[in-house]
Amino acid sequence: MNALIEPAERLKGKLTAPADKSISHRAAILAAMADEPVLITNYLEAADTLSTLEAVQQLGALVERRAEGLMIRGVGLRNAQSPDKPIDVGNAGTLIRLLPGWLAGQQGSSFELDGDASIRRRPIDRVAEPLRLMGARIDATDESFAPFSVEGAPLTGIDYRLPVASAQVKSCIALAALLAEGPTTITEPDPSRDHTERLLVQAGVKIEREGDRLTVFPTDELTLPDEIMIPSDASSAAFAIAAAVLVPGSRLLVENCSVNWTRSGFIEIAKRMGAVIVTDLESRPKEGVIPQDEPVSDVDVTAGPLKPTTVTATEVPLAVDELPLIGLMACFAEGETRVEGAGELRLKESDRISAVVKVLNDLGGEAEATADGFVVNGHGFLRGGTVDSEGDHRIAMLGVVAGLASREGVEVRGVDAAAVSYPSFLDDIAALR
Ligand code: S3P
Repeated sequence: MNALIEPAERLKGKLTAPADKSISHRAAILAAMADEPVLITNYLEAADTLSTLEAVQQLGALVERRAEGLMIRGVGLRNAQSPDKPIDVGNAGTLIRLLPGWLAGQQGSSFELDGDASIRRRPIDRVAEPLRLMGARIDATDESFAPFSVEGAPLTGIDYRLPVASAQVKSCIALAALLAEGPTTITEPDPSRDHTERLLVQAGVKIEREGDRLTVFPTDELTLPDEIMIPSDASSAAFAIAAAVLVPGSRLLVENCSVNWTRSGFIEIAKRMGAVIVTDLESRPKEGVIPQDEPVSDVDVTAGPLKPTTVTATEVPLAVDELPLIGLMACFAEGETRVEGAGELRLKESDRISAVVKVLNDLGGEAEATADGFVVNGHGFLRGGTVDSEGDHRIAMLGVVAGLASREGVEVRGVDAAAVSYPSFLDDIAALR
């Protein structure tokens, strides 16, 4: 499906972003690992997280849709059933990286995982390597790709330093650690989203943080609360926030949005560029403490002029899915904006360094790829043109935001890719015009 996005005169009103994708995946997987039923309210109804519900059902969990939310009856930590056909994760990178952590320790069972063409292009070594060190048996296509099989095996705790900050890899190891013999310590080069840690604390798991070292202790069972409420997704909200920053005269209130500090890097970077964004961001947790609750806030956004900035490697994991938006906003500032230390972007749903640079240049901007990021020379405006999402949901939404802020509008080809994380994106934006 294609959409022609005309420049907006201004954007005004309130918006509630869809439920958080990362937390939805984790809540469903952990509920499937628990013994007692868990009610998940405000679960994200989007392609990626529906794949997770399918997957946990294939593993033996029961998913019941109720008016108030999803009731998931898990199989317990050590009882995932071998499905009779491969688990198809669709486009969900988080699912294909987290699930093997749980499955690797299911002794006596085996599993096949596969996904769409984009998933098959994304290497799984980052999770396969630490899992193998723990004793996992993983057999991947050409050593690194889906489809791959996981054969349950006895696992042993490890002391592992992540080569690159990644919440997906950290979470995968943390799930395997629950089933391992002895504790597992994961060292993060930089902090990344901490939703798994928060949920594991809620599930009664012994888990310690000392600086950049996270230690997860094995357990016999997860005792999650009866109900888990998913907050709105900061990454989805960022697309509307960027649009309101860029379209002159705009004023937007994003209600009840997650402002977990490991997810609000975009807001911090945008503010540094001069954006007027007001939140009651909670302070960072105390050293050594892993908070349980996900902080939320209303986010009040007013359009205004922007200046260039440099995004450093430490900030990248805190805004990793929003970096394309920083690139777009940089076109509207005057001067050079750099994104550094973001080589991970090449391994997302598409090579997002190439994709962002192509989109911005095709629309009349001036952007250049570097080995681990991109540089944008902003001229204060963007002409417009055509964007092809190439099936990447965040590139589709980037094209829509660009269209709203452009001089001549943008045709977004394959705009329906947005349904992977934000099915009502076009309707929500239309309601603000
Ligand atoms: C995610 C972590 C990030 C992010 C992805 C979701 C998660 O990936 O890009 O969209 O839910 O843990 P990495 O942690 O691999 O960078």
